[in-house]
Amino acid sequence: MHGIKSIAAIAGLASLAVASPVEKRATPGSFQIKQVQTGQKLAVGAVAYQKAYQKYNKAVPAVVAAAAQQGAVTATPEQYDSEYLCPVTVGANTLNLDFDTGSADLWVFSSLLPSSEQAGHSIYNVASGKKITGDTWKISYGDGSGAAGTVYADKVVIGPVTATTQAVEAATSISSAFQQDTDNDGLVGLAFSTINTVSPKPVTTFFDTVKANLTSKLFAADLKKGAAGVYDFGYIDTTKYTGSIVYTPVDSSQGFWMFTSTAYSIGTTKTSASISGIADTGTSLLLLDASIVTAYYKKVTGSKNDSTQGGYTFPCTATLPDFSITVGGAVRTVPGSYMNFAPIDNTGKTCFGGIQSNAGVGFSIFGDIFLKSQYVIFDQTTSSPRLGFGQQA
Ligand SMILES: *[C@@H]1O[C@H](CO)[C@@H](O)[C@H](O)[C@H]1NC(C)=O
Ligand SMILES: *[C@@H]1O[C@H](CO)[C@@H](O)[C@H](O)[C@H]1NC(C)=O
Repeated sequence: MHGIKSIAAIAGLASLAVASPVEKRATPGSFQIKQVQTGQKLAVGAVAYQKAYQKYNKAVPAVVAAAAQQGAVTATPEQYDSEYLCPVTVGANTLNLDFDTGSADLWVFSSLLPSSEQAGHSIYNVASGKKITGDTWKISYGDGSGAAGTVYADKVVIGPVTATTQAVEAATSISSAFQQDTDNDGLVGLAFSTINTVSPKPVTTFFDTVKANLTSKLFAADLKKGAAGVYDFGYIDTTKYTGSIVYTPVDSSQGFWMFTSTAYSIGTTKTSASISGIADTGTSLLLLDASIVTAYYKKVTGSKNDSTQGGYTFPCTATLPDFSITVGGAVRTVPGSYMNFAPIDNTGKTCFGGIQSNAGVGFSIFGDIFLKSQYVIFDQTTSSPRLGFGQQA
C-alpha cells in the first residue's frame, strides 16, 4: 500500500488533452487515466517560450513575441507536451486542471463568468461552495492577460485524496488567452502558499491543505515524453525510477521550488557552473543561461538562433546530445531525443529546441523538458523543503 493512510494517497494522471474516465486501478489507491487526443492543438515553440516570460511577469523579448504572434495562426496537427492536465473534482464538477509547481493558486473557470467566457470549458458551479466574504484574487501577466475572481470554500478531490475544505478561487473574469486554451479549465498551484495571490490574506495550496493527512508530506511528478504521466501524493513509488533518489535543498524564500545545480554536461563533457533554478511543471521548456544554451547548440548540426522563430531551431533529423545537470553530487540526464520540443510547422522539417535562453527571467527554469526525464519528489518531510530526483528508466 505504499504506506498510505486511510485517505488514500495518490493522484492522477496527466493528459495532454482531455482525459477519459478512470481506466484502471494499478495499485490500491492509485489510478491511471488514459490519455486521449482531442481535436487539434497548437504547440508552437515560441508560444511556449513566451508563456514562461508572461508567467513570471518578465518582458517578453521582442523576437519571441513576434514569433509567437506569427505562430498562433499555424495549426499543427499533432499534439506535443505543452501542458499536462489532470481531472480534479471541485465541488460537484470535474475539471481538467494544470498541475503547476511554479504557482500557488487553485483557480478555476466558474459559473460566475459571463457565458461567452465559459465557452468550451468545464466550469465550477459555485452553488456547492461557501463564499469566503471579502477574499479576492488576481493573477496578471506582463502582457496584460490574466484572471481574477472571488473565493469559495469547497471540497476538492484529486484521485483518492480529498480536501474537505479547500479555498477554491472562482474566476469572474478571464483574459482571452486563457479562454482560447479550451483544454485547460484552470490551475492547481503546487508552489509554496506564500505566493498565493488571495487578498487580504493568502490561502493554502491543495498540497498544504492535505499534507497533514498524507502518510508522507510529499508529492511526486512522473511526467512522460509524449504520454500521460502520474502524480503520486503522499508516497514515493520506487518502481518509477532507476538507481537512487538524490536530494537537494530547496530555497523557498521566493515561494518556488528553487534549487542549485553545480555543473552541467553536454554529452559527456562536464562544466562546473552554479545554476539556480526552479522545478516548474507548468513551464514546457528548459530555460538556462545563454552561455549554456549556446554551448549546447554548438553540438547540434544545422542549429541556429532563429529570430523569426524566437529561439534556437534545428533540422528535425538532427542528432541531439544528452543534457545533464549535477545535483546533490549526482548526474541527472535528459536524453537527447527529449531536447526536441516540437516542429515549427506542418512540414516537420525544422524543430524548435527544448532548451532556450533564460535571458531576462532572473533564474533558470527546469520545466517539463527536464522534469520528464526524472521522477521528481517535492518533499516537505524534512525541517526544510527539498527536492528529490530519480532518473526515469
Ligand atoms: C484530514 O482527515 C481528517 C480525519 O479523517 C478529516 O476530518 C479532515 O477533514 C481531513 N482534512 C482535510 C483537509 O481534508
Ligand atoms: C538569439 O538571438 C537574439 C536576437 O535575435 C538575441 O537577443 C539572443 O540573445 C540570442 N540568444 C542566444 C542564446 O545567444
